[in-house]
Amino acid sequence: MAKRIADLRSDTVTRPDAPMYAAMVSAPVGDDIHGDDPSINELQERFAELVGMEAALFVPSGSMGNSLALTAWTRRGDEVIIPSECHIFRYECGSASFLAGVELVEVDSSTGAPDPAEVKRRYKSGGFHSSRSSLLTFENTHNYRGGLISPQCLLEEASAFAHENGMHIHMDGARLWNASIALGLSMAELASVADSVMCCLSKGLGCPVGSLLAGPADFIGEAKRLRKIFGGSMRQAGVLAGAGLYAIGHNFSRLAKDHAHAKRLAETLVNLPWAELDPEQVHTNIVIAQVPSRQAQQIMDKAEAQGVRLFALNDYEIRFVTHKDVDDKDIDHAVDVLASLKVT
Ligand SMILES: Cc1ncc(COP(=O)(O)O)c(C=O)c1O
Repeated sequence: MAKRIADLRSDTVTRPDAPMYAAMVSAPVGDDIHGDDPSINELQERFAELVGMEAALFVPSGSMGNSLALTAWTRRGDEVIIPSECHIFRYECGSASFLAGVELVEVDSSTGAPDPAEVKRRYKSGGFHSSRSSLLTFENTHNYRGGLISPQCLLEEASAFAHENGMHIHMDGARLWNASIALGLSMAELASVADSVMCCLSKGLGCPVGSLLAGPADFIGEAKRLRKIFGGSMRQAGVLAGAGLYAIGHNFSRLAKDHAHAKRLAETLVNLPWAELDPEQVHTNIVIAQVPSRQAQQIMDKAEAQGVRLFALNDYEIRFVTHKDVDDKDIDHAVDVLASLKVT
């Protein structure tokens, strides 16, 4: 019998299952650059409706969706105010400066949302000597804050200020699906504080490839032009859209299961001598535990040897992510292994 592996490194490690492959194989396709791909058109329309926006664009990755939004909403040299530790800043290889030519201004995000008071303080109207703040971003849920859901009232306050001052708002909603399920609120309600939103199909929803960017029709038109410049236009990509349509229909509501698994891991970890975390801060499918300084690698190696894969954010923080390819038995296994680890 194959050794049980609970792969908790990321929700991006999922593989398409048989019904998803079947949906991909049967998806009608055409040349999407000509607008001829019926599956992509359907997916874009479905997503725009889901998030309550005028139009949407299928893109190869979440990073590309964010880069398109940053480039379309700004002029080179502008400032973009972002929640601290957000993915755009930490994990997108400097694409904001490389592609959009903007400066990033981090504001505190310990609640998951950019602190509205700090957004107000850091805002610059521009002029002859200084750059202008033209875009504010949100990240909901916040990956590096352990999948924290941004309090909607803080997003509303920051959003109102930004709009009063002529800024646009882009939401990195790679895992907005998780926030929607955890809160019982629609994607449209959650996205209503932003002018554009990017959501990934390749994370909790389990698709092999793809993200969607939504916003006003003219913004999406510009994003489509930029997608060509960035090399992200595809042809018969309806096979990927087929997976996306299947995932929205079948893998969205099941995210509650991943959240319950993450809670279980958090409740186990909090009782272990080598892990520190607040289970109350585990809102969705990500758990981040602080471990004794420079012990992350040792813990990961010992867990891996027993079939539990983890991801170290640095040498004192380990991330555990639940997803559709870890079931109840995998979580039982992970709990047993973690509880038995001897950390020296
Ligand atoms: C919050 C967030 N935004 C954006 C992305 C980028 O997505 P991709 O890996 O598809 O480029 C990720 C990926 O993990 C993410 O966690």
